[in-house]
Amino acid sequence: MKNIVITGANAGIGFETAQSLVSAGHRVILACRNLEKANQAKIQLDAIGKEPVEIIQLDLNSLQQVTQAAHELINRLDHIDVLINNAGLINTQLEATEDGFEKHFGVNYLGHFLWTMKLLPLLKNAEQGRIIHLSSIAHLGGTINPNKFKAENIKHFHTFPYYANSKLANLLFSHHLARLLEGTNVTSNALHPGVVDSELYRQLPKYQYMFVSLVLIPPSKPTKLICEMALDSKWANKNGQYASVQTPAFQSSKAKNTALAQTLFDTTQKLLNSYL
Ligand SMILES: NC(=O)c1ccc[n+]([C@@H]2O[C@H](COP(=O)([O-])OP(=O)(O)OC[C@H]3O[C@@H](n4cnc5c(N)ncnc54)[C@H](OP(=O)(O)O)[C@@H]3O)[C@@H](O)[C@H]2O)c1
Repeated sequence: MKNIVITGANAGIGFETAQSLVSAGHRVILACRNLEKANQAKIQLDAIGKEPVEIIQLDLNSLQQVTQAAHELINRLDHIDVLINNAGLINTQLEATEDGFEKHFGVNYLGHFLWTMKLLPLLKNAEQGRIIHLSSIAHLGGTINPNKFKAENIKHFHTFPYYANSKLANLLFSHHLARLLEGTNVTSNALHPGVVDSELYRQLPKYQYMFVSLVLIPPSKPTKLICEMALDSKWANKNGQYASVQTPAFQSSKAKNTALAQTLFDTTQKLLNSYL
């Protein structure tokens, strides 16, 4: 039985993944911002598994709350076998996190960076720790521009570029972490789950949603890959990989740029100086 933590596990891909892992008999911890939704998910999951599902409140919109949630988990668990960084959003308006960061950057990337670094000791305590990052094919359109990390510095906001930037940041983080973890018992890998029928596109205008809905696949498809990455022996020695459902695993030249990954990592550490 593995200890598995999934962020954003009350809906979409995260919930479907939790269902598979609970059915397989693992100890699953749902890290969710909304306790009511998390409890609804727990009721459904407890009906299919032997182990009661656990909940931890995690709001990636707040660095202070991320720190608190990580410390709570450190008090609760002696190790984590698998950390699935799944939570994410698409925002149609320019908004800031509690700490003033553009929301895609803050929630999809920065919060997860802090969360992962805090939980790294628990992953190292596992026999073999695996970190899985939900990136996206959208990273192909992403750039890293530190001048646009703070919401107050953004004059012209468009949803897709900022979502894409955050997904590029997820991928660069996964790759850099993999290099840092080389030779340890912990791996870091990322994936594009396909264009999945979930709540992610709930905010899009109707015509954009109609376009996206033409290619939607069910969450069960990425769940199969995520569970393989989490548990399968063929993923035991894979580190720094990028897998993809539905389309080939193309990566942009920026995603493969190790210097960019190092710079982003160093810049992020400075941003999180008082929390790390
Ligand atoms: N669906 C796709 O086509 C697609 C494609 C490529 C990549 N992805 C990636 O796959 C991941 C899962 O997406 P999905 O499609 O399953 O989306 P979803 O159905 O919208 O689920 C997203 C989850 O993230 C949670 N979340 C949002 N903001 C949060 C915050 N501030 N703190 C903590 N949790 C938060 C949501 O919680 P609430 O329920 O409380 O909002 C929800 O549980 C995301 O990282 C997404 O970028 C998805």
